Amino acid sequence: MIYILIFSLYCLTAGAQSYVPQYYSFSPAVGRGSGTSYSSSGEGRITAIRVWEINGAYIRGFQLRYGYAWTPVYGRNINEELEMLLFEDEAIVQISGTYNPGNFIYQLIFVTNRGRFLMAGQPTGKSFNFYPRHSQSELRLISGRNDSSGITSIAAHWGMVYPVAPGVPMSGNGTMLGLQ
Ligand SMILES: *[C@@H]1O[C@H](CO)[C@@H](O)[C@H](O)[C@H]1NC(C)=O
Ligand SMILES: *[C@@H]1O[C@H](CO)[C@@H](O)[C@H](O)[C@H]1NC(C)=O
Repeated sequence: MIYILIFSLYCLTAGAQSYVPQYYSFSPAVGRGSGTSYSSSGEGRITAIRVWEINGAYIRGFQLRYGYAWTPVYGRNINEELEMLLFEDEAIVQISGTYNPGNFIYQLIFVTNRGRFLMAGQPTGKSFNFYPRHSQSELRLISGRNDSSGITSIAAHWGMVYPVAPGVPMSGNGTMLGLQ
């Protein structure tokens, strides 16, 4: 009896471990989506974010920093700039906002696992809320479209920054979270 129990426990654990890498999930795009497509990418964790808004109107553009390197600007970097620098071990775990289905993203709110947030734009139009599906996941990249005036659509990709090798317990000694 005890052997059967141990064996089924072993199978459960082995089954769970095969899902460990990545913890990927996707929040599909909202917005009209006209213009050219963009997709952010970089090495390591997202450490800062900048958003440009037109006061009282829509989102012009944004930029992410991975590690020490800023991505290109997606959209336009004119009008008002807002910036948030993340603390070490702080990660973006939610993006909310509003959009007008006929033109632009109007508001963007980036929320971190420490409860801080960067808010830009206006609470007008349709609302959206993006979250990762897995508790260990965080924002990995943003994709969408922009035209020459601003951001017309946005989608979020979530996952783990430093995938855990099968068999390695999640609670490491910090090596897994260290900068690469
Ligand atoms: C989207 O933004 C990029 C970066 O600013 C720009 O080069 C590109 O022309 C924009 N797309 C359109 C359709 O204007
Ligand atoms: C963390 O764990 C790794 C792998 O087991 C080990 O090599 C490293 O020395 C540990 N670091 C600390 C600070 O304990």
